[in-house]
Amino acid sequence: MAQSTFKRLLVGITGGIAAYKAAELIRLLVRQGVEVQVVMTQAACQFITPVTLQALSGKPVFTDLWDDRIDNGMAHIEFSRDADAILIAPASADFLAKLAQGRADDLLSTICLARGGCPLMVAPAMNVQMWENAATQRNMMQLRNDGVAILGPDSGDQACGDTGLGRMLEPQDLLDALEASLQPKLLAGKRVLLTAGPTFEAIDAVRGITNLSSGKMGYAIARAAIEMGAEVTLVSGQTSQKVPMGAKVIKVTSTQQMLSAVMENLNGQDIFIGVAAVADYYVLNPSEQKIKKDAHILTLELAPNPDILANVTNLPNPPFCVGFAAESENLHEYAEHKRRRKNLPLLAANLIQDAFGGDDSELILLDDKGAHPLPRAPKLILARQLLKHVATMLKEQKTFTGNK
Ligand code: C5P
Repeated sequence: MAQSTFKRLLVGITGGIAAYKAAELIRLLVRQGVEVQVVMTQAACQFITPVTLQALSGKPVFTDLWDDRIDNGMAHIEFSRDADAILIAPASADFLAKLAQGRADDLLSTICLARGGCPLMVAPAMNVQMWENAATQRNMMQLRNDGVAILGPDSGDQACGDTGLGRMLEPQDLLDALEASLQPKLLAGKRVLLTAGPTFEAIDAVRGITNLSSGKMGYAIARAAIEMGAEVTLVSGQTSQKVPMGAKVIKVTSTQQMLSAVMENLNGQDIFIGVAAVADYYVLNPSEQKIKKDAHILTLELAPNPDILANVTNLPNPPFCVGFAAESENLHEYAEHKRRRKNLPLLAANLIQDAFGGDDSELILLDDKGAHPLPRAPKLILARQLLKHVATMLKEQKTFTGNK
């Protein structure tokens, strides 16, 4: 799991059955090195005890506006000043109503009202009828307009036996949503198309030619682009990666299918990123049936596949194109040669031994200004850095050409 972009988080827990999930959430946060200060409402203490959360967070838990453990008696002011963000999880219907009205009749609501510029995020959790009630929806709209980030809710089985919207996001999904909401929206309004994973060329009904690409880098870029506000279409070869929430995914097998999917979805895209490890050759005349294993030499005839990226860059009015180069030696030299040959404004290069299959990698970004190394980090972190570079280049391009 990537390190958090925040260091200190105030987690507010309100009264609902999902309060038990807050324990796991805090455990995950602490494991990532985040300093967590827990504040609970009285109702939350009916569902889970402060002792549990104190043990998990390693800090005293506060529940009372009149608590005299804070030196100057200004707990409601101190807490938000010490935090990078406030997360209310679970946020009950009653607490959300309180926030929407700006009431301050207990410690947690007072902290929220006195938070100044500290970002506030809420993870609603309630019965589906309560969630769909016009009053709750009105409160949510008010909170959105007030700049509060709303994480979830999820849909599914509820503790009361109902099914529908109102479940709190699971702890890991909540953490991911929290990270996403804190990313700068550098690609807001942009449309990004990318390829990811390996392509597969059939030899017969069960066998084929493919490569070791896990798809992790492409999926990380798709997720990072969504976090930054982009609309993302992901054309993906076969992988076991989890599809990022909000991405439109088109699953393909062969290179020819990947090319067709890219061309069909290219219209209106601002950015195209070719991350897929495309099979360079396909098998001429693959067998529809499984080839029998006879004891003689089998000869396959291979023909070169089309270059998807080149098809895009050669269009009269291409989107901003980014290529990837995986090399096993002479990384800088081979990659820069590839960038020029493919006529790319930006190319991300990595060594195969550093990148394939792993959760971490290191990249060199090559553009007309030179080389920009990105040191070893989780692929999601590298993806964010790469897209930040893309956003800067797009901005410079716009300033330079003076258009749009
Ligand atoms: O395979 P190669 O090193 O040339 O790949 C460089 C870039 O070109 C990558 O971004 C890859 O996704 C893209 N590519 C492609 N179609 C191919 C081969 C590569 O889009 N047939």
